[in-house]
Amino acid sequence: MLPTAALLLLAVSAVAKENATCDGPCGLRFRQSSQGSGRVVGGQDTTIGAWPWMVSLQVFTSHNHRRYHACGGTLLNSHWLLTAAHCFVSKKKVYDWRLIFGASEIVYGNDKPAKPPQQERYVEKIVIHEKYVPSLEHNDIALMKITPPVPCGQFIGTGCLPQFRAGPPRIPQVCWVAGWGFLKEKVYRVTPTLQEARVNLIDLDLCNSTQWYNGRIRSTNVCAGYPEGKIDTCQGDSGGPLMCRDNVANTYVVVGITSWGVGCARAKRPGVYTATWPYLSWIASKIGSNALHMAQLPTPFHSTSQAPPAKLPSAHPSARPPWYFQRPPRPPPPSPPASQPRPGPRPKLPAPPPPPPPPAPPPVTRPPQVLSFAKRLQQLIEILKGKTFSSAKGYYEMETTDLPELTATS
Ligand SMILES: *[C@@H]1O[C@H](CO)[C@@H](O)[C@H](O)[C@H]1NC(C)=O
Ligand SMILES: *[C@@H]1O[C@H](CO)[C@@H](O)[C@H](O)[C@H]1NC(C)=O
Repeated sequence: MLPTAALLLLAVSAVAKENATCDGPCGLRFRQSSQGSGRVVGGQDTTIGAWPWMVSLQVFTSHNHRRYHACGGTLLNSHWLLTAAHCFVSKKKVYDWRLIFGASEIVYGNDKPAKPPQQERYVEKIVIHEKYVPSLEHNDIALMKITPPVPCGQFIGTGCLPQFRAGPPRIPQVCWVAGWGFLKEKVYRVTPTLQEARVNLIDLDLCNSTQWYNGRIRSTNVCAGYPEGKIDTCQGDSGGPLMCRDNVANTYVVVGITSWGVGCARAKRPGVYTATWPYLSWIASKIGSNALHMAQLPTPFHSTSQAPPAKLPSAHPSARPPWYFQRPPRPPPPSPPASQPRPGPRPKLPAPPPPPPPPAPPPVTRPPQVLSFAKRLQQLIEILKGKTFSSAKGYYEMETTDLPELTATS
């Protein structure tokens, strides 16, 4: 039958166009939202393809086959994504996770496989920074190895990391954050539509000053937001990118990873990000120097003589993405019974202090950073010590001023 043959041919040529290895230029955007107010908290909806390197990290519960968005991530190549270490405080096993690529819309608690143009993948490995300190969020950076590798295409692409010579991000600079996190500090619900917002980079000394984060900022952080708050990342945005425009290369560079904050969008409590630049060598040591190089912004010196920086391919929104014909991924090799994932019910703990427990609907798992076991324990210990909390709620629940003591408890 001719039509079928034609269709097949189309499918084959489409497959040929996709780039299974994701070794094309990083930072290509496929569709951009209209230049809106750029209001995450105070953000605006994105359209599919706006941030093609944006990944949704979802906690998978095997007893009901549902997955729950917990963190964001940045696709570096078909094998690796970059995220925050604190996403894994309570969910450390690869079988606890599913990865969704090419998404703008997600369903919290979905029990159906992702449909094209989205791609769903398993995790082969979780690499947490060896010097990650949960109580202080030092070195809050991690990599996930994707299995099977994810192809790049119309709505999936790789993000750019800074060059080695870039140095810390320049201030002032207008940048963007994106994520499926809470739309408000106390709205305990991830949002189905990927949000984006414009944020300003904030001087680290100001961010570290007594009225602001009072000494908790490190040179490996980036602060971004507004002095008056109102626009910020929030819970569920963790691990996602902070992206600044490189005017020479005419693309966005992932300069930070959403890490922490006190509350969300509060005045003088901007989002705190793990800077990517100080960790380039660490990333290279895990994914390989070549792979890092591919994910770094091309050096202008090498490209000036050539064609102008890679332009966006003209978007054909109606065109079927090539991976439409791809088969869904196969399950990971079964693990021995003893180490099989057992998400089960959440650990029973004495009621946590002020921050209200998450709402009922998807009762089984919450994003791990909502109130991890460890955090609850810390809170409990603090309570027992007779300390008081401001019941701040963000991806960090409260103002913890006595950090050294927290360290001692963990
Ligand atoms: C992917 O794109 C890069 C750069 O455009 C190219 O060199 C490479 O051969 C492509 N790979 C595939 C499998 O098409
Ligand atoms: C922030 O302040 C603390 C305490 O004064 C200091 O140890 C730290 O180095 C400062 N961070 C930066 C980035 O200067």
